[in-house]
Amino acid sequence: MAQTKKKIVFSGMRPTGALHLGNYVGALRNWVKLQETHHCFFGIVPWHALSSEYLNPKVIKDFTFEVALDWLAAGLDPQKAVLLIQSEVKEHAELHLLLSMITPLPWLERVPTFKEQQQEIQDKDLNTYGFLGYPMLQTADIILYKAEVVPVGEDQAFHIELAREVARRFNRFYGEVFPEPQILLTEVPKLAGTDGRKMSKSYGNAIYLKDSPEAIRKKISPMVTDTRRKRRTDPGEPDDCPVFTLHKAFVPEAKRQELAAGCRTASIGCLECKKVVIEALITEFETFRQKRTYYEQHPDEVWTIFNEGSARAREVARKTMEEVRQVLGLDFPTGRR
Ligand code: TRP
Ligand code: SF4
Repeated sequence: MAQTKKKIVFSGMRPTGALHLGNYVGALRNWVKLQETHHCFFGIVPWHALSSEYLNPKVIKDFTFEVALDWLAAGLDPQKAVLLIQSEVKEHAELHLLLSMITPLPWLERVPTFKEQQQEIQDKDLNTYGFLGYPMLQTADIILYKAEVVPVGEDQAFHIELAREVARRFNRFYGEVFPEPQILLTEVPKLAGTDGRKMSKSYGNAIYLKDSPEAIRKKISPMVTDTRRKRRTDPGEPDDCPVFTLHKAFVPEAKRQELAAGCRTASIGCLECKKVVIEALITEFETFRQKRTYYEQHPDEVWTIFNEGSARAREVARKTMEEVRQVLGLDFPTGRR
């Protein structure tokens, strides 16, 4: 079979601590597949975390480690993908700076997440230069590796569109250096958390990848189901059931159809139905838990993997920045390294 050149992928995750099922189905699960077919760079991005957590920066390192554990345990493989820590590759900052020179302020001010997050997150002052520049830092992350494909959810679509526009603008001003990155839209099933709201770390309703079988059982068993099912004999509607959002992500199609039919005809009870998804989750994350425990006990191995990944990333990043400095005429004779 003719070998076509693998496309370059970049995607990133903010270090916000251990990952939950929503993070898994919305990103990680797809990345694990993508590393087989694409030339992938996956970055944990401390500087993005800092844009909102600047008053509490000390947690970022531990949170980075938690994400690193989850990545490795879930099957991201340093033999297949470049696993890096953004802030360990200083070229991200240099490119961000240079892009900031050519990015019109209104492009950033009209990013929907900018105003939304400022309003939503009341306990932090997000009216900062860094937070406004968040999408620019993201653009730098992506184009620094000349990524062609960026797997993200719908919530990031605007950021990627901006990245395309900035890459295009750079190319128009200085010459073709960057490919225009394309979004690879990840279908993000909306998962409900234990309280029925959207699963989110900040709501305290999340089921974590690292949760033990007992914790999974304890969290799902008491969950609210479709309110029509007051009694065991009342039929329900799976599409209105928070628990069934988990079925949609983790229970195979055939079994799921069977349960849905059973729900609609009241021929199964909610406990029985929940048991299926509980067992599915326990099984799906069995090897995950083993691997995570291993890495928890071998932190040096984890840091080494990310150290080596960051070094590989740096090599690519350096080449790009040499080119960038050259087209800008900033390739000083004094700067030979
Ligand atoms: N902004 C992304 C998020 O909140 C994280 C991110 C940072 C990212 N840099 C990136 C995603 C580059 C894709 C590509 O999820
Ligand atoms: Fe939800 Fe299943 Fe109960 Fe139906 S049977 S309401 S899908 S838990």
